[in-house]
Amino acid sequence: MATTITTLFFFFILFIAALAVKEVEQQTSLEQPIISRIAFGSCANQSAPQPIWKSIIDFNPQVFIWLGDNIYGDIRRPYKLFGKERTIGPWKNVPRFVPASETEMQLKYHIAKNNSGYSLLRKKSQVIGTWDDHDYGLNDAGKEFSDKIVNQKLMLDFLDEPQDSPRRKQAGVYASYTFGPKGKQVKVILLDTRYHRDPLSSDGSILGDSQWTWLKKELNGPKTEITIIGSSIQVLSNLSATTGPLFYMESWGRFPRERDRLFKLIASSKRNGVFFISGDVHFGEIARYDCANATGYPLYDITSSGLTQAVEKVIPEPLAFLVEVAAWLTPTTMRLISPNCRYRSCTYGMVLSEKSWFLVLSLVEI
Ligand SMILES: *[C@@H]1O[C@H](CO)[C@@H](O)[C@H](O)[C@H]1NC(C)=O
Ligand SMILES: *[C@@H]1O[C@H](CO)[C@@H](O)[C@H](O)[C@H]1NC(C)=O
Ligand SMILES: *[C@@H]1O[C@H](CO)[C@@H](O)[C@H](O)[C@H]1NC(C)=O
Ligand SMILES: *[C@@H]1O[C@H](CO)[C@@H](O)[C@H](O)[C@H]1NC(C)=O
Repeated sequence: MATTITTLFFFFILFIAALAVKEVEQQTSLEQPIISRIAFGSCANQSAPQPIWKSIIDFNPQVFIWLGDNIYGDIRRPYKLFGKERTIGPWKNVPRFVPASETEMQLKYHIAKNNSGYSLLRKKSQVIGTWDDHDYGLNDAGKEFSDKIVNQKLMLDFLDEPQDSPRRKQAGVYASYTFGPKGKQVKVILLDTRYHRDPLSSDGSILGDSQWTWLKKELNGPKTEITIIGSSIQVLSNLSATTGPLFYMESWGRFPRERDRLFKLIASSKRNGVFFISGDVHFGEIARYDCANATGYPLYDITSSGLTQAVEKVIPEPLAFLVEVAAWLTPTTMRLISPNCRYRSCTYGMVLSEKSWFLVLSLVEI
C-alpha cells in the first residue's frame, strides 16, 4: 500500500474477489475475522429501481459503506425559466430545492430500507455510513440548516445505530470503526461534511472544531495497516478549479485551507496506508495527489459513481454523448487515466493494494 497502488478494471473484480475469499477461509483465526472486502457507494434514489444491489451482494462484501445521498430526502422543484415561480436563471425567485417534513423524510427512509436488494445486503453485510446533502435534508446545505438535529436521528435510525450510542448524542454523524485482527487491521473513519460546514465560498471550515479534535485523536490513535477516510464530497479532485465559474461542484478543493489542514494532519500522524473514498458527483473517478514530501506515499481518492444516479442521465438519451464530450474536454487534474476510459467516463474501477488480503470495490452504475 505504502508505495504502489495498481488500478485495474472491473473485469478483474470477480477473479480477485474469489482469491480474497479463499484467503480469508484459510486464515481463520480466533481473533476478529479479517475484513478483506469492503464495498461503498453513494447517491441512491429510493424511488428509482436499484438493480445494483445484486452486483454488490454478488461481490459478497463483509462491510458496505454509505457515503451519502443514501436517500434523496429534499424536494426538487422542476426547472422553470418563466412563470410565477422561477427556479433557474438570473431572475430565479424561488429555491430549486426545499426541505421535506420529518414524516416525508421517514417515509423515504422506509422505502429505501424496504428495497428487497438492500434488505438482503443488510442481512449479509455490516452496513455503516455517513451522509451528504440530500439525506442531510437540503441540497448543498451546511451548518446553517436547522433540520439537522431531527435528520441526524432519522439517518441513525436508518443505519440501526443503537439507541444508547454516543453517536446519537454528538453534533454530527462522524464515526470510526476498526476491523480485523492485529497485523491486518483496517480502520474506517467516516467524516461528517455537513453538520459544521461553513458557507460554500467562505474557505472556512468543513469539519468544525469538535470534529477536528476527534479526527486528530483518531489519526494519532493506534496504528492500523490500512486507514480509509470516507468523505461524502471529493477530497482530491480539483475539477471545480477548472470548470468554475461555469459550474462548481462541492469538494474539499473549494476549501483549500481546510484541505491543507487535512493533508498536514495525516502527515503529522505518520500513519501509513491512508486513502480516501468519496461519492456525490455521479461519476466514478480515482484521483492521486503526490504529496510524498509529507506522507511518504501518494494519497488516493476513490470516488464511487451513483448507485442510481449518473451524470449521463442528466440530459435526454440522444444528447447524452454531449456529457461524454464534455468529460473528455475537461482537464483531468489529479485524475488517474487509463486508455480504456479516455472517451467515456471511467466508472468501473477498483484498487488493489499491495496487501493482497485487502480489496476495495468502488461501486458504479450498471
Ligand atoms: C427518483 O426517481 C423517481 C422515479 O424514477 C423520479 O421521479 C425522481 O425525479 C428521482 N429523483 C431524483 C432526485 O433523481
Ligand atoms: C416493502 O417491500 C415489499 C416487498 O418488496 C412490498 O410488497 C411492500 O409494498 C413494500 N412496502 C412499502 C411501504 O414500500
Ligand atoms: C490541486 O490541488 C493540489 C492539492 O491541494 C494542489 O497542489 C494543486 O496545485 C491543485 N491543482 C490545480 C490545477 O488546481
Ligand atoms: C509538500 O510540498 C509542497 C510543495 O513544496 C507544499 O506546498 C506542501 O504544503 C507540502 N505538504 C505538506 C503536507 O507539508
